[in-house]
Amino acid sequence: MIRINENYQKLKASYLFADIARRVNAYAAAHPDRPVIRLGIGDVTEPLPRACIEALHAATDEMGQRATFRGYGPEQGYAFLREAIAQHDYAARGCEVAPDEIFVSDGAKCDCANIQEIFAQDARLAIPDPVYPVYLDTNVMAGRTGANVDGRYAGITYLDSTPANGYVPAVPPGPADLIYLCFPNNPTGAVATRAQLAAWVAYARENRAILLYDSAYEAYIRDPQIPHSIYEIPGAREVAIEFRSFSKTAGFTGLRCAYTVVPKTLQASDAAGQGQSVHALWNRRHTTKFNGVAYPIQRAAGAVYTAAGQEQTRALTDFYLGNAKLIREAVQRLGFTCVGGDNAPYIWVNTGRDSWEFFDLLLSRAQVVCTPGAGFGRCGEGHVRISAFNSRENVAAALERIAAALR
Ligand code: MLT
Repeated sequence: MIRINENYQKLKASYLFADIARRVNAYAAAHPDRPVIRLGIGDVTEPLPRACIEALHAATDEMGQRATFRGYGPEQGYAFLREAIAQHDYAARGCEVAPDEIFVSDGAKCDCANIQEIFAQDARLAIPDPVYPVYLDTNVMAGRTGANVDGRYAGITYLDSTPANGYVPAVPPGPADLIYLCFPNNPTGAVATRAQLAAWVAYARENRAILLYDSAYEAYIRDPQIPHSIYEIPGAREVAIEFRSFSKTAGFTGLRCAYTVVPKTLQASDAAGQGQSVHALWNRRHTTKFNGVAYPIQRAAGAVYTAAGQEQTRALTDFYLGNAKLIREAVQRLGFTCVGGDNAPYIWVNTGRDSWEFFDLLLSRAQVVCTPGAGFGRCGEGHVRISAFNSRENVAAALERIAAALR
């Protein structure tokens, strides 16, 4: 009989958010009279910006006319979108990123998951704890770890994010080849300062390592001192790949559009010690395994960069940040310490209790869904993540219910 990829057996039985959804659906089915408010998975609730909708409609109409119909587009994305990204997300912040260093895709999740394929099997990994589970799980699937013992995989350097370091891990004492970083952070909502990011870039340059920098939540940064891109740090073009998404910036979780920046100046070595272009490898992978994002979706993403789109997406992120502020203030009033919520849509609450027990308590007593910190790693124990993605009405109701349940 054909054999399975046994690395999958090292994984937890189900993906964190699938596990939570199963528990919540079971609760909802058993208690149809108690409506549940979901502040768990970070999924947007507000309608798409008007500018995006108009672009989506117009592009859809183009697809219905012989003269403007389009079949396969460039795998890497249409020039109009890559040029707008390069100009607005990078040149405007003083970062050097060329349009042909941008690869448009259908999600930062897929890109973060797939990127490891182009690196050696024995690449040494450094991964934060707590962490967005995709970085870790995809490397487990690829066979880069040993077994999971007491919640940790052998062969990984874990970068602990704790109250003691403000949930921003320092560089490790030993070497690593591939380092996953995410700021504003999912799940903690913590942000990294310029000096902290500069230390990571210096570490990567010294160790000839690569930083995999996930900045899917950069649109939530309001503190002008906090970098939005790793390329704001001098020297990062030789050591970093950056992942971005329209999901949380413009409400595209249901449309699917994101992009990855791979500078042409980034190299990794082959077995003979010769430097090879990482851009060329990713381009090879992308063109082989991906056929591009739908034209109307790319037009909708392009509309984010129009004057109206910029105003409307800013209003959208301001709205969720308004929710985040309410959540942050409410949990502090209840006597908990927390981070996040000011430059990020997540609030990381230090509950000081078992995180799954706290999750169950909020679900059963308040019918509010949060995400148990332990689901993101050992250092997440004692914490829960509350997402600001919901309507104002639901957030206000959830906070009242939580206060009543914990009284
Ligand atoms: C989350 O809740 O962590 C995110 O929604 C997951 C994702 O973006 O894939």
